[in-house]
Amino acid sequence: MDQKIFIFDTTLRDGEQVPGCKLNKKEKIELALELEALGVDILEAGFPISSPGDFEAVHEIATLLKKATVCGLSRAVQKDIEVAGEALKPAARKRIHTGIGTSDFHIKSKFNSNREEILERAVKAVKWARQFTDDVEFYAEDAGRTANDYLARVVEAVIKAGATTVNIPDTTGYCLPHQYGEKIAYLINNVPNVDKAVLSCHCHNDLGLATANSIAGVIAGARQIECTINGLGERAGNTSLEEVVMIIKQHGHLGFFTGINATQLNPISRKVADTMRMPVQPNKAIVGANAFSHSSGIHQDGFLKDTTTYEIIAPEEVGADSSKIVLTARSGRSALAYRFQKLGHSFNRNDIDALYEQFLAVADTKKEVYDEDLEQLAKAYQAASVTA
Ligand code: KIV
Ligand code: ZN
Repeated sequence: MDQKIFIFDTTLRDGEQVPGCKLNKKEKIELALELEALGVDILEAGFPISSPGDFEAVHEIATLLKKATVCGLSRAVQKDIEVAGEALKPAARKRIHTGIGTSDFHIKSKFNSNREEILERAVKAVKWARQFTDDVEFYAEDAGRTANDYLARVVEAVIKAGATTVNIPDTTGYCLPHQYGEKIAYLINNVPNVDKAVLSCHCHNDLGLATANSIAGVIAGARQIECTINGLGERAGNTSLEEVVMIIKQHGHLGFFTGINATQLNPISRKVADTMRMPVQPNKAIVGANAFSHSSGIHQDGFLKDTTTYEIIAPEEVGADSSKIVLTARSGRSALAYRFQKLGHSFNRNDIDALYEQFLAVADTKKEVYDEDLEQLAKAYQAASVTA
C-alpha cells in the first residue's frame, strides 16, 4: 500500500526569515488558514520567543486551526520551550520543534562545547518539550555535515527521551542527493529505536538540490518533508512544497502520496508571493509564469498536435492558467495559425506562408508578438488581398 508523506510547511517560519518577507499577525493568520485548506499536515507557525508579535500570531493560529498540527520553533533552551508551549496552548493539535546544532562546526564554533555536552542538552530539551505536548520534533541542526555515527547516537537518545519526529536538516544545503539519502538510510539501519519516530527532511537550496535531496530522503525511508511555498527560506531557500508534492504525484511508482490539494498550488503560490511581496521567478517549476508557456516552433508544433509531447502536467491539475502559445521570432507556422484562429481568423496554408514572413519581420524587432500585432498583420494582409 502507498505510504503517506507528511507535509510540514514552514513558509511562516523559515520562509518568513527571508529579508523583506516579514508578515504581520493578520497576514500570518490569513496564510495559515489557506495552508490548512491546502492540506498541509503540520504548519510551523513561527518562533514564539523571537518577538511578542510572533508569540501572538502563533497563539492565534493555534486557536484557529482545526485540522493541521500547529508547530512552534524553539532552541534547546528551557525558556524558549516554555514560551512555545504557552503560545501553542489552545491548539487542537500542537507540536514543539526544538533542537541544537550537531555538526562539529556548530559544536565548536557556535557553542564552544563538545559532542557529549550537546547530546545531554538535546535530551534535556526534548524532555522539557514533552511536558507541554506528546508531539515533539527534534532538529539536529546541520545534520547534513554531522558525522553519521554521532548523529545516530543523538537520534537514538532524543527518541528515547520522547521525540516523535526527528528532523535531519541539511541546514547549509551541502549534501548531494545520494549522500543525503545515504544519511537517512544509515539512521534507519543504525538507530535501534528509529521505528518509534518519523524521520524528517529539511533541506536548504544553497546548491539548488533541496528538492532532489528531500526526495532522496523519502526514498531512503524518511516520511516527512519540510518545505515552503515558492521554496522561500533562509539564503537560497528551502525545498519547494509544490515541487515535492508534484514529484510524488507524477512518480506514483515510488509508492507515496500526500494530503495536498494540488489544484490549489498556483493560487496559494500567488497569494504567498503577493502577501510576502516576493515575486516568483518566471521559470519556477509548477508555479512560474512560464511553467506552461511554449515558445519555440518545434515545441509549439508538437504541443498543438498533442499536449503531452511537451507537458507532463496539465495546468488545471495545479490550478494554473491554461497553457500559452507565446509568439516570438523562434515560433513556427503552426503556432501562428493557432493564434490567428483564436482571434477568429481562419487563414489557409498559403495565407499562413505569406503571413509568416511578415510575422517574422515584426517578431525580429520585439521580444514577443501580441494579439494587437497579429490583428494589424491580418488587417494589412486582408486589405492587400482585396486590392490584388
Ligand atoms: O535549517 C535548519 O536547520 C532549520 C532548523 C531550525 C530546523 O531551519
Ligand atoms: Zn531551515
